[in-house]
Amino acid sequence: MTKNLKQWIVYASLVCVLCMAAGCSAAKVGGQSQLLDKGVVRFYAEGAKPDTLPPSLALVADPKVQGSAPNKWTVSPQFSVDKDGRYAARVDIEPGTSLYGTGEVMGPLLRNGSVIECWNTDAYGYGPTTKSLYQSHPWVLAVRPDGTAFGVLADTTYRCRIDLTEDIVFAAEGPGYPVIVIDADSPQAVMQKLAKLIGTIPLPPKWAIGYHQCRYSYYPAARVLEVAKGFRDRNIPCDVIWMDIDYMDKFKIFTFDPKGFPDPKGVNDSLHQMGFKSIWMIDPGVKAEKDYFVYDQGVAGDHFVKKADGTEYHGEVWPGMCAFPDYTRPETRAWWGSLYKDFMALGVDGVWNDMCEPAVFNVPTKTMPEDNLHAGGGGLPAGNHAMYHNVYGMLMVKASREGILKANPDKRPFVLVRANYIGGQRYAATWTGDNSLTWEHMELSVPMVLNLGLSGQPFSGPDIGGFVGDGDGDLFARWMSVGALFPFSRGHTAKDTRDKEPWAFGKEVEDTCRTALNRRYRLLPYLYTVFQDSSQTGLPVARPVFFADPDDPKLRAEDDAFLIGSDLMVVPNLAEKGIRTPAQPQGIWRSISLAADEANQPQLKIRGGAIIPLGKLVQNTTENSLEQLTLVICLDDKGQAAGTLYEDAGDGFGYQKGDYRLTHFAANQKGNQVVVSLKSEGKMPKLNRNVSIELITEKGTVKARGRESQPIEIKM
Ligand code: GLC
Repeated sequence: MTKNLKQWIVYASLVCVLCMAAGCSAAKVGGQSQLLDKGVVRFYAEGAKPDTLPPSLALVADPKVQGSAPNKWTVSPQFSVDKDGRYAARVDIEPGTSLYGTGEVMGPLLRNGSVIECWNTDAYGYGPTTKSLYQSHPWVLAVRPDGTAFGVLADTTYRCRIDLTEDIVFAAEGPGYPVIVIDADSPQAVMQKLAKLIGTIPLPPKWAIGYHQCRYSYYPAARVLEVAKGFRDRNIPCDVIWMDIDYMDKFKIFTFDPKGFPDPKGVNDSLHQMGFKSIWMIDPGVKAEKDYFVYDQGVAGDHFVKKADGTEYHGEVWPGMCAFPDYTRPETRAWWGSLYKDFMALGVDGVWNDMCEPAVFNVPTKTMPEDNLHAGGGGLPAGNHAMYHNVYGMLMVKASREGILKANPDKRPFVLVRANYIGGQRYAATWTGDNSLTWEHMELSVPMVLNLGLSGQPFSGPDIGGFVGDGDGDLFARWMSVGALFPFSRGHTAKDTRDKEPWAFGKEVEDTCRTALNRRYRLLPYLYTVFQDSSQTGLPVARPVFFADPDDPKLRAEDDAFLIGSDLMVVPNLAEKGIRTPAQPQGIWRSISLAADEANQPQLKIRGGAIIPLGKLVQNTTENSLEQLTLVICLDDKGQAAGTLYEDAGDGFGYQKGDYRLTHFAANQKGNQVVVSLKSEGKMPKLNRNVSIELITEKGTVKARGRESQPIEIKM
């Protein structure tokens, strides 16, 4: 432990003891303030010495302090020590304020009245009352009755309760911690200011926003290829097939089962030939077995987490007793990253990091002891596991991403992770863990994705078709129809469940799944444009409908519908029986059609004033869907509409040097004529593609054709 950390803990415990002795559970012990940006203030409990605190792992960099809180600042936390001796920070809310965020939670979108505990937990078979899931986002977004908003971040990695039963109350173990408040005109502006603090997602490779097919596990290699061929034979679009733990030799990471997967490079080559990418799983637990190269290297480099007595900690995971890399050490992160060199050279395209809460089987806490020791380094203090538990997964994927990038410097890494921490979207996308094939899980997968997006993680989705349970075809089809529209879209299921490929439930379900995925693939140009925007602004990809009108109280709790970007509304029917019609924003929103038979699909509605670019149907993202462009246009009440299309190589980093094409579309109505013009910027050559227009009017769709280089005229 560093001297600074020790000093802080001594100080914190002293305040705590004095305060409890005085019985002052609600006593204020706060606070100093630092202005970090316009509308962004960091608060500290009184007496705290900011310089002695460990660096924030949530923030992308240490922000420059620009003074203290402005005079008229209204949202200030009150610091105290609660009855459990936890440092608490309370922010009062005015009546009618709606609360969101808190990361990965199963429950309604609106978080008012809920209590959760940030403590990364292997939550197999979780439900709506589970208090701790796999990730920790000690963050709340609050939208006031007038549509203005603020956000509160408790900048602590320790176990932290978020109590929203009345106001916003954080209570965390460990020493006192800073609280950052963001105040802005709208929830969107709060999210963008949060992104300036915690960073955004890196632009993913385009294939990662296609559809993914997984199961625990496709085994042996022949089965992997059979599933891949199943998609192509049936004309169901798909980009990625996943390899779960059974590909490994006795679950030892960075090895291959000699019987089932004797030739992993061959599997990858065959997948590539069919237009698929491959993602392979890597867990953190390293089998503690002499002569196993990963373990031997880990021991030689002193890379493993230690027990309180300083000896190597072992806990049980898939391969048996394992040692766990101590990702707080820069040397360990570099070593871990280096393990990917040979692995990626086999043609692996993406990596799935799981079990990194870290999950441990043989103990009631499901994780390693809180007094285990992490060595730190490179600015991070040494600390116990209580301090580093919630960031174990985040530091792991940071190391994975850096190693993968080093192995393939010209490709955009794709990492999926189960356990993460606020800010961890900088390194990995996520999924919502071991859910179940029930109507409730299907329905609540929408607000789960939305609240992750409102907590800084826009790249998420559930196991479509549920991990646990067999369910039935109707439910599976319904889930696929909405799951195909989530930012991360992957079918997955547990070991002993039935087959859950899109064709596994018979022809009718197969047809529904094909249409659902055809719709996703036609939307990919728009979706990729929204992802690119998210990588710049931090705005979620999937957004709650209240984003369309933050001061409309009817939309605040609505989570039966959602937006993709700002221009497309998804209105699924999530009810098991009958039809539930969600509240929708005022103004012009018109239904659009993307495929022939959309009877069992969510309705899609375009916003008045928007132009959405579509591609032609392709079976995977290596095919060019944009040799011809389709623009779906819906005019606003002034007869105008606008939109953009972002294109680049789909992988690599050329886009950072200007190798992209950003095309702006504008439509203007004069009398009974609408003129559409297109203008491109960026270094990629301008094209003169055929453009097909679908103008959605009150009376129906007006179609027109033209070329990209000239204004296109449409007679209404
Ligand atoms: C965990 C993951 C699950 C995976 C399984 C086997 O339960 O959450 O997705 O299939 O481990 O690796």
